Amino acid sequence: MTPSRIYYSADCDPEFILKKQITVVGYGSQGRAFALNLRDSGCNVQVALRENSASRQQVLSERLPLRSMAAVDKSDVVIFAIPDHEQPDFYRCYFSNEDRSNRMLVFLHGLNIHFGNIVPNPGYDVVLLAPHGPGKELRDKYVQGSGMSCFLAVAGDVSGRALRTGLSLAAAIGADKAGIYETTFEHETLGDLFGEQTLLVGGLAGLTMAVFQTMIENGIPQENAYLETVHQLRMLASMIEEHGPAGMIEHVSKTAAYGSLESMQTLFDRQLEDKLQEIFGGIKSGEFNKRLLADAAKGFPVLKQLLNAAREDQCQQTTAKFAGREKES
Ligand SMILES: NC(=O)c1ccc[n+]([C@@H]2O[C@H](COP(=O)([O-])OP(=O)(O)OC[C@H]3O[C@@H](n4cnc5c(N)ncnc54)[C@H](OP(=O)(O)O)[C@@H]3O)[C@@H](O)[C@H]2O)c1
Repeated sequence: MTPSRIYYSADCDPEFILKKQITVVGYGSQGRAFALNLRDSGCNVQVALRENSASRQQVLSERLPLRSMAAVDKSDVVIFAIPDHEQPDFYRCYFSNEDRSNRMLVFLHGLNIHFGNIVPNPGYDVVLLAPHGPGKELRDKYVQGSGMSCFLAVAGDVSGRALRTGLSLAAAIGADKAGIYETTFEHETLGDLFGEQTLLVGGLAGLTMAVFQTMIENGIPQENAYLETVHQLRMLASMIEEHGPAGMIEHVSKTAAYGSLESMQTLFDRQLEDKLQEIFGGIKSGEFNKRLLADAAKGFPVLKQLLNAAREDQCQQTTAKFAGREKES
């Protein structure tokens, strides 16, 4: 397989995007970071919000032009910075009946295009620009001058300039300094969903709770259990980032390394491999996408129920208690 290309500042034309009217739709985690970074890079950017949006005051106080949703109509570049499950209705409402071409739609996650929840007008350029982290870090890294890396993919290139525009836009949010990784909508969507569900969000939270619970059931005091799990996660995650999984194991004590490698044989067995394949299969087949949209359409009853159960978990309760105490001291 050919390794995907990584673009840096020398590959981007920062001037190219300056001529375009850009609208960022939404002012949440990513919308705020995109809008502020683009403004500070000299772009002609405005923010579009709903009439009753709670973010209106913040947009104005951060000196960004605030527009109604209708503003997307006159924009060359529209950035979809609203939650994924809201995007199909938003697209139907503001784009479906228009025949305007020569515009670019920018998605920050590939889900809606990959699974066909949105089928864009064939006259549009369609680009994916997905930062590798939350909006707050995207903004902080831009301000610090280091920039956050991102994925870039092109799904529609009517103008013949989609890649050039996408690279220029990526540079304007600061990603050219850290690396703009070329990918496809499919690979970003499947990788992102599977990674977050099984490791970064679901795996990390689920394993932390399970390990904590086992300690409590075996008589370990809550504070000890917290200090031996949640309290140390950040340090060990940083070590994996720096040295890789095996490198991290090499950096801990012989006792920890021996015990961990031995326990990995027990924990990560054929059954777990089958479960991982099953989850990947459900994502790839579009079943997960269907379940997500069905729950969203009903106001997320399943999400709310599962989240309430997680909030009741002892590890969560203990963390709230001890993490709060650490901040006070
Ligand atoms: N968050 C991340 O860490 C992250 C990382 C990489 C990629 N992404 C992607 O970035 C995109 C945006 O995610 P996000 O987490 O930044 O979103 P978010 O913070 O949940 O977005 C909130 C914003 O969306 C607006 N909004 C919500 N529903 C709307 C609707 N129906 N019509 C118009 N505006 C609406 C809200 O306005 P109101 O005040 O009117 O509710 C608010 O300004 C998604 O595609 C996501 O997958 C997110």
